[in-house]
Amino acid sequence: MSETHAADPMVPDVVRVVRTRRELADVWTLEIDPGPEGFAFAPGQFNMLYAFGVGEAAISVSGDPAEAGRLIHTIRAVGNVSTALAHLRPGDTLGVRGPFGHGWPVEAATDADVVIVAGGLGLAPLRPTIYRLIAERSRYGRIAVLSGARSPTDMLFRSELERWSARLDIDVEVTVDHATGDWRGNVGVVTTLIERAAFDPPNTVAFVCGPEIMMRIAAVELEKGGVAGERIYLSMERNMKCAIGHCGHCQFAGDFVCRDGPVATHARLRRLLALREI
Ligand SMILES: Cc1cc2nc3c(=O)[nH]c(=O)nc-3n(C[C@H](O)[C@H](O)[C@H](O)COP(=O)(O)OP(=O)(O)OC[C@H]3O[C@@H](n4cnc5c(N)ncnc54)[C@H](O)[C@@H]3O)c2cc1C
Ligand code: FES
Repeated sequence: MSETHAADPMVPDVVRVVRTRRELADVWTLEIDPGPEGFAFAPGQFNMLYAFGVGEAAISVSGDPAEAGRLIHTIRAVGNVSTALAHLRPGDTLGVRGPFGHGWPVEAATDADVVIVAGGLGLAPLRPTIYRLIAERSRYGRIAVLSGARSPTDMLFRSELERWSARLDIDVEVTVDHATGDWRGNVGVVTTLIERAAFDPPNTVAFVCGPEIMMRIAAVELEKGGVAGERIYLSMERNMKCAIGHCGHCQFAGDFVCRDGPVATHARLRRLLALREI
């Protein structure tokens, strides 16, 4: 596990919300002032965010790792804690512990082609990786960003996807499960985009995040196409409490998702993906 910013990783720092943005009907992005020292993190790492009086939830950092002065999280309101966090307003305070876990090993993709496969909110933990790939563009081969949403109104970061798509050095493909309104783009699940993407399978690193079923299918498709399981990285979601490998809440077999993940290779996760959550 990487080092957290606080001396005691169980004690949250109290921070303030600077700005909020409603992304989708049930998804908000919070920009938090991390204080004068800023907040360094690796793409794919998560924080434990504490809504005072309600509780804590694991939330990935979704901002740019090059901007340590802006701590950004994107949250879907699904239950008590995530709803309390998502509804925070500028000026409100919350607690932050982290960053925790192993993120996306972007450096492992140096000189390789990169395929990013995102389903729904899975684009949030991948966005810091995309920022880094763009910032260091010359270090990588071809880059494909494949993103899927249930419908056009469920598409996270749509204007950013359009901006990336306008670049000549990245291939961005988006799809929706169900076309509505004036949608004229791809229709079908995100994994159908994999076989159409341009990459050299033996020299490709893939980063995949989304619902577990989608990650499982994406990993199988990528392996069928010739990408080695050791070069396909997935991010696991499990119930978290301590986030530092003590409480056992996220334990599977000999692995703790908080400490050994959340990002790990398909070669390693294949077995865990077959297990039900405790
Ligand atoms: C490493 C990691 C990173 C994460 N990153 C993010 C992130 O960037 N943004 C984010 O919004 N969430 C993220 N999550 C998920 C988030 O931690 C949970 O959604 C949150 O803990 C739910 O807590 P709650 O108290 O609001 O809901 P609960 O009361 O725990 O759950 C309420 C209901 O929602 C369902 N539910 C719980 N989680 C989810 C989910 N993820 N999707 C759909 N239904 C769910 C439950 O089954 C239950 O029915 C991450 C989780 C992990 C482990
Ligand atoms: S959340 Fe406590 S061991 Fe992972």
